[in-house]
Amino acid sequence: MNPLTKGFEGIISPDSVEANLLKKLDPIRLPQHIAIIMDGNGRWARIRKLPRIQGHRAGVKSVKSVIEYAARLTIPVLTLYAFSSENWKRPEHEVNTLWRLLRQYLRSDLVTLQQNNIRFNTIGRISELPSTVQKQLAHVIQETSSNTGMKLFLALNYSGRTELVDVFNKLLKSRNDFPIEAFDIESCLYTAGLPDPDLLVRTGGEMRISNFLLWQIAYSEIYVTDVLWPDFGGLHLLKAVHE
Ligand code: IPE
Ligand code: IPE
Ligand code: MG
Repeated sequence: MNPLTKGFEGIISPDSVEANLLKKLDPIRLPQHIAIIMDGNGRWARIRKLPRIQGHRAGVKSVKSVIEYAARLTIPVLTLYAFSSENWKRPEHEVNTLWRLLRQYLRSDLVTLQQNNIRFNTIGRISELPSTVQKQLAHVIQETSSNTGMKLFLALNYSGRTELVDVFNKLLKSRNDFPIEAFDIESCLYTAGLPDPDLLVRTGGEMRISNFLLWQIAYSEIYVTDVLWPDFGGLHLLKAVHE
């Protein structure tokens, strides 16, 4: 049996499209790091004549299912772009709702992270987030710190350019021998020690990077789908991996 189908035993029916896709995957060639730009919540809500925040609420469901699915697929690292540094420019009510949804998620899903042996962490300028969010993030990071399965990173208040600014400032402070080499930069990235994403997925159809992981995606395969984030689920992730 393909070892990848093991995590799905009893969950998907053996002759489904999903089971067939799983069988075709070569475990050796599985992505070591999948990064996802989760876009399209607002449009999902607009189509349904709902307020944007309902789109974000529906988006949380996709976050949960994709995390669990990636863990079952034995993906070593998953990075989800949840809030960019540019997203502060959105209306205050929308920004506050996003933090509230994150707090709810962290409260309700710590159990699921534990059950799936997932190690949670963040990238981005976390010190600029509301203090209640920071506290809860620290709690979940601490509680999952000895898990040995998939590493999950939420990119929060993240900007690829800011990350590089932080890298250069760190290097300027910490050393007086120059020139700087590429590996010096790599060692100071927020993602230091992680493999670069070999697969970058963007939902919502825009052909843009939106300031995500600028250094790290130099060689990533890019998979853009028109599916809006709240409609994106495990099977979509599987199709992206398959392709
Ligand atoms: C992505 O969905 C979620 C965040 C950036 C937090 P959007 O809110 O950008 O949805 P669209 O792009 O307006 O549809
Ligand atoms: C990208 O979506 C950022 C996140 C998914 C957090 P945006 O909707 O913020 O990006 P743009 O505005 O399309 O570049
Ligand atoms: Mg968007």
